[in-house]
Amino acid sequence: MNELRAALLHTSRRMVELGLNRGTAGNASVRCGDNILITPSALPVSEMGGQDMVLLATDGKVLQGGKPSSEWRFHCDILKARGEIGAVLHMHSPFATTMACLRRNVPAVHYMVAMAGGSDIRCTPYSVFGEQELSEHALEALRDRKACLLGNHGMIALGRDLDEALSIAVEVEFLCEIYWRTLQAGAPHILSAQQMHDVKEKFVEYKKCS
Ligand code: 13P
Repeated sequence: MNELRAALLHTSRRMVELGLNRGTAGNASVRCGDNILITPSALPVSEMGGQDMVLLATDGKVLQGGKPSSEWRFHCDILKARGEIGAVLHMHSPFATTMACLRRNVPAVHYMVAMAGGSDIRCTPYSVFGEQELSEHALEALRDRKACLLGNHGMIALGRDLDEALSIAVEVEFLCEIYWRTLQAGAPHILSAQQMHDVKEKFVEYKKCS
């Protein structure tokens, strides 16, 4: 448990160091046996310690600690619905949030879009932070995906563990930057369904090799 608390703190700090979050923006959770360990609400990462992490039951009941992240609903709902997922990260990173404010799905502008599980990264409609509606929109946008954008809000990235979720978050932020940059210069060329299908097959081989 102490190791998980330290890992959650480390990932929260990395999100800030990588420019994906700042101040109290964003939050993170990790599966802890049958329960969920989540970052506290409204505490800047720079002031957070491992002991501030909050242990929740999957219905959101606080088992240990203080006030959980206001986004506990989507963290719990995702970890309940997606047995293969072990960690959930939420960011207000600049380029993903730009696309989320434009309310754009990110199409197959670059083959690495496949890393999030499909041929696009979906963007949800807007909902107030912390509300059940936001969680429902997020679950829908995350169907067969490991990332989505939250309309006028930010990004969610998932992984089997914290490391995978963080690497997906970094990649999605890069993809949103590339999409934004190409839109400034003109009309980006979007890869076809067949091209993305081929990439997904190649990824299977790639992951076997790594
Ligand atoms: P918390 O500090 O409650 O986690 O909220 C931050 C946030 O990003 C809400 O979407």
